[in-house]
Amino acid sequence: MTMETGLIFHPYMRPGRTARQTFEWGVQSAIASDKAGFDSMMISEHASQIWENIPNPELIMSAAALQTSRIKFAPMAHLLPHQHPTKLAMTVGWLSQILEGRYFLGIGAGAYPAASYMHGIRGENMEGHRLEDAKAAFASGEMSKRLNDMVRESLYIMEKIWAREPFFFEGKYWNAGFPEEEPAHTEDDEQHKLADFSPWGGAFPEVAVTGFSLKSPSMKLAGEKNFKPVSIFSGLEALKWHWDIYSEANIKAGFTPDRQRHAVSHTIFVGDTDAEAKREVMEGPIGYCFNKYLIPIWRRFGMMAGFAKDHGIDELDADLEFLVDKVFIVGSPDTVVEKMNELFTKCGGWGTLQIESHDYYDDPSPWFHSLELAAKEVAPRISLPKQ
Ligand SMILES: Cc1cc2nc3c(=O)[nH]c(=O)nc-3n(C[C@H](O)[C@H](O)[C@H](O)COP(=O)(O)O)c2cc1C
Repeated sequence: MTMETGLIFHPYMRPGRTARQTFEWGVQSAIASDKAGFDSMMISEHASQIWENIPNPELIMSAAALQTSRIKFAPMAHLLPHQHPTKLAMTVGWLSQILEGRYFLGIGAGAYPAASYMHGIRGENMEGHRLEDAKAAFASGEMSKRLNDMVRESLYIMEKIWAREPFFFEGKYWNAGFPEEEPAHTEDDEQHKLADFSPWGGAFPEVAVTGFSLKSPSMKLAGEKNFKPVSIFSGLEALKWHWDIYSEANIKAGFTPDRQRHAVSHTIFVGDTDAEAKREVMEGPIGYCFNKYLIPIWRRFGMMAGFAKDHGIDELDADLEFLVDKVFIVGSPDTVVEKMNELFTKCGGWGTLQIESHDYYDDPSPWFHSLELAAKEVAPRISLPKQ
C-alpha cells in the first residue's frame, strides 16, 4: 500500500481576496489535485476568520463535483454545534449522492470563540454576553466540554435521520424527528413518498474527526466510534497524545486501531531543489501567511511551544526560518522523502500525507508543481506505519 495524498484547504487566503477569488481558487485546487492523483481534498468551515474565509465548504465541493473524477471530498470540518442536525444530515447525504460516494464527513467542535459567539453558544457558567466571556469559557475548557456534548447529540440525531426510521427526539440542544411514510391511496400513488437524502448507498458515511488540543476529547470520540482521526501536526508530544487517546478508546470499544487511518495535516512544499523550495516558502505566500497569521495564532494555541520543545530551543527563538528548516517538510523530492521517513521513525507515522493549502491564486504554477511532485515522487516512497 502506498501513502495516500490529501489537500487541506483552510484556505489561508490573504485579507482582501474576494469571495469570488476564494471560491475560484477552491475549485481550481480541486481540479488540479484530482489531476495530480490526490486521494482527498478537505475544506474547512469558518464563520469568523478573515484568513479562513469559507463558511460553506459544501459549495466548493458541489462546484467541483462535475469537473473531477477520482478525488474524494470532505468538509474538515462541518462544525456540528453551529447547525441543525437534520439540515446538516440532509446536506451531507445529498452531496454524497451527487458525488456518487466520493465523499466523507469531517466533523469538528469549533476552535474559535468568535464563531461560537456568533451562533449564540454559551458555556454552562458564562455570566456575561460579551465576546470576552466566550473567550474565558474557551480558556477554562468549559466551552470545549459544551461543544463536545453538542457534537455527540448532533451525531446521534444525524444517524437517526439517515436511518429513515420513525422517531421523535427532544434533546438538550435540538429537537428532531423522522415521520412515518403515509400509506399509498391507490396502486400507482407516488405523491406520499418521502425523498431519500440518506448518504450514497444508504450507508452511514465514513466520518473523520478533527483533534487539536493535547488531551483531545475529539480523539476520544473518534476512538470510541471508530471514526477516522485527523490531527494538525503540532509537535511530537501532541501527536503521541492524540494517537494514545484515540487507540485507548478504540481498543476499549472493541476495535483494532490502525495508524493508516490517521491523517495528519502538515506544511509541505516540494520543489526541484532544496534551495528553490526553501526560498519559495520563505518569500512566497506560505511565509507571508505564517508571519501575518499563523505564527501569532500558533503561539496562542501552544503549538510554537511544542515545536520549540521538540528541538530544544526557547519558544521565543522559534521564527519562520526555524519552522521551515526544522518543522515543515520542505525540499526536493529526495529531501522530503528523507524528512518524512525520519519523522515517521520518531512518531510511528500516519497514513495520509495531508498537505496544508495556501494562497497561490496569483500564480498557481509553483504550488501545483509541488502537489504533482508530492503525489508522484514523494508519497510512493514513504515507508508506511507497521500497524
Ligand atoms: C485538521 C483539522 C481541521 C480543522 N478544521 C476546522 C474548521 O474547519 N473550522 C474550525 O472552526 N475548526 C477546525 N478545527 C478545529 C476543531 O473545530 C476543534 O477545535 C478541534 O478539533 C477540537 O479538538 P480537541 O477536541 O482536540 O480540543 C480543525 C482541526 C483540525 C485538526
